[in-house]
Amino acid sequence: MIWPFDRIWPLDVVVDKAERNHTRRMAELHAFSFTRPWTDGEFDDLLDQKTVYGFTARELRWGKTDILGFVLVRAAADEAEILTIAVAPRWQGRGIGRRLMDKVLARAHGDRTESVFLEVDENNNPAVRLYRKLGFIQVGGRPDYYRDSAGQRSSALVMRRDLR
Ligand SMILES: CC(C)(COP(=O)(O)OP(=O)(O)OC[C@H]1O[C@@H](n2cnc3c(N)ncnc32)[C@H](O)[C@@H]1OP(=O)(O)O)[C@@H](O)C(=O)NCCC(=O)NCCS
Repeated sequence: MIWPFDRIWPLDVVVDKAERNHTRRMAELHAFSFTRPWTDGEFDDLLDQKTVYGFTARELRWGKTDILGFVLVRAAADEAEILTIAVAPRWQGRGIGRRLMDKVLARAHGDRTESVFLEVDENNNPAVRLYRKLGFIQVGGRPDYYRDSAGQRSSALVMRRDLR
């Protein structure tokens, strides 16, 4: 079977702990996807917090490492919250978000976390589908929580995945 060029899978993707030297690229990826981008300083501050951890998906190609996506999580007592997740636009839909989330759930399981929470825009179909596929269920909502660049408002869904 011949794959169309834009569907070529990243060759060698490793999903591993997010480090301080990844934050510039994390801020760049965040800015591609969100109307209120976080700075690399904000990512540094978050990663410096003991309760915050993250993972980056990195591809090694022609001797250079590129960060294709990341996820950040805050753990508190027996719960964890997904703070943000983003995959580079041209690499979306290739299983990277799924691998990042699998890593979070494995870590949360290892930490004996009871539940993982997140908030997502009700109109963000790719993200909502991904979370539902991973077993997250809607447990609440925040009406008119988001506003897009055109001023259009939408609600946040609060979702939870129980681990025990
Ligand atoms: C949401 C996001 C992280 C998903 O990452 P991804 O690498 O594109 O997702 P995956 O390729 O791992 O897809 C996993 C599942 O998500 C869903 N999905 C992904 N892209 C989709 C799309 N364009 N349309 C519908 N569903 C989609 C599907 O259920 C898919 O499973 P399937 O391929 O078996 O059907 C990514 O799209 C992204 O960075 N979006 C912009 C930032 C964002 O919205 N973050 C979430 C904020 S809560």
